[in-house]
Amino acid sequence: MASPSSICLLAVLLALVSWQAIASDPSPLQDFCVADKHSPVLVNGFACLDPKYVNADHFFKAAMLDTPRKTNKVGSNVTLINVMQIPGLNTLGISIARIDYAPLGENPPHTHPRATEILTVLEGTLYVGFVTSNPNNTLFSKVLNKGDVFVFPEGLIHFQFNPNPHQPAVALAALSSQNPGAITIANAVFGSKPPISDDILAKAFQVEKGTIDWLQAQEKMASQSSFFLLVALLALVSWKAIASDPSPLQDFCVADEHSPVLVNGFTCLNPKDVNADHFFKAAMLDTPRKTNKVGSNVTLINVMQIPGLNTLGISMARIDYAPLGQNPPHTHPRATEILTVLEGTLYVGFVTSNPNNTLFSKELNKGDVFVFPEGLIHFQFNPNPHQPAVAIAALSSQNPGAITIANAVFGSKPPISDKILAKAFQVEKGTIDWLQAQFWENNHY
Ligand SMILES: *[C@@H]1O[C@H](CO)[C@@H](O)[C@H](O)[C@H]1NC(C)=O
Ligand SMILES: *[C@@H]1O[C@H](CO)[C@@H](O)[C@H](O)[C@H]1NC(C)=O
Ligand SMILES: *[C@@H]1O[C@H](CO)[C@@H](O)[C@H](O)[C@H]1NC(C)=O
Ligand SMILES: *[C@@H]1O[C@H](CO)[C@@H](O)[C@H](O)[C@H]1NC(C)=O
Repeated sequence: MASPSSICLLAVLLALVSWQAIASDPSPLQDFCVADKHSPVLVNGFACLDPKYVNADHFFKAAMLDTPRKTNKVGSNVTLINVMQIPGLNTLGISIARIDYAPLGENPPHTHPRATEILTVLEGTLYVGFVTSNPNNTLFSKVLNKGDVFVFPEGLIHFQFNPNPHQPAVALAALSSQNPGAITIANAVFGSKPPISDDILAKAFQVEKGTIDWLQAQEKMASQSSFFLLVALLALVSWKAIASDPSPLQDFCVADEHSPVLVNGFTCLNPKDVNADHFFKAAMLDTPRKTNKVGSNVTLINVMQIPGLNTLGISMARIDYAPLGQNPPHTHPRATEILTVLEGTLYVGFVTSNPNNTLFSKELNKGDVFVFPEGLIHFQFNPNPHQPAVAIAALSSQNPGAITIANAVFGSKPPISDKILAKAFQVEKGTIDWLQAQFWENNHY
């Protein structure tokens, strides 16, 4: 496939997608930088709104992610909640999507130039896959059932297909960019405006020019008939990807959990030993969990559960809340969190850093989306005394970490001196001793 003609088309493709090459979600240098869409200043992402005009609604969207969408001709509909919908996502490196699939519908082969995707099935069954870059172009594919989780590494061509002829399917996906971008291969190659020369495409795909002309004449590509041509195309698509955790320097670097070598993250398993199961977990994210003393249970699917997440800067969690349960104040030292409510109602909030310590809070209903910026203390509370609540959250790190404030401060081993804490919290030493004597239960697994 590495013929001169494919190198030529590669140049064309790279020209088509050159705007991606600069892409990398900037690291936050302050608590948040809410996108100021009216600013005339052009930066990577958006300029920041003056923080004194920022409120909780900048981190919120009544996105109705619980509600079915009408699907298009290929039988899917992607509802992406990115920085255009939630300006608070600017600089935070994450977004979320609901994907609806009609019976036999597909989300046709495409790439996200700036993001890894982690997906969980809410309804139905999906056959999914991604293809590695040159020279191997290996297809990693898998059938996913309700509650399963799968990872599509950054920049690789991937697809999802609903094999059921009678039932629709639904997935929630999170992407490791505020603006992941999408390039539907068939549309970009055969539907570009102006069209790519049919000479070039005929040579690249090693078919008659007439076949290319026919493909280019289609109103919207992505029909199954073009599917086999993609195998040839895959040889041409190979660009460097950039992400928020350590930037991937290859298609994937599946964690080798048995390597004695210590690095930031994990060393890579030999790619010849990698298969689709390294990107998969039968996580049962559709299934309720028992909650703990504070009334919650966080089921985190990170690099420890899916070794394929190594270097890809994303993870996913299901959070169960008992009636009146809470996910107590905590931070994720390495991740922004984006959350959508699947069941019930949540009162949520985060607090900015010194000196302001402003609380941004909001009541969320089913289908709503909210963002907790990286490193800030935040919580969720289920105000309903009778009904449980459930959320799916995605975090912009393979290993976001969690610091439950009460546990870290009053439950450290060995304990922090009660003198120091009494002064810090301006209470009697006896109060600190009482707090330190409590059992601070962990709700993160
Ligand atoms: C902190 O509060 C001051 C006074 O209200 C305001 O001018 C400033 O923008 C705030 N800073 C941040 C980072 O929110
Ligand atoms: C996708 O869903 C949205 C929201 O329901 C709808 O406005 C849009 O028309 C749908 N797209 C297609 C192609 O049906
Ligand atoms: C490509 O395939 C060769 C031969 O099977 C294998 O040795 C190599 O590890 C593969 N490379 C990647 C990046 O998958
Ligand atoms: C949280 O859920 C997991 C999976 O159901 C369970 O193993 C664990 O015991 C639960 N934690 C608590 C505190 O109930």
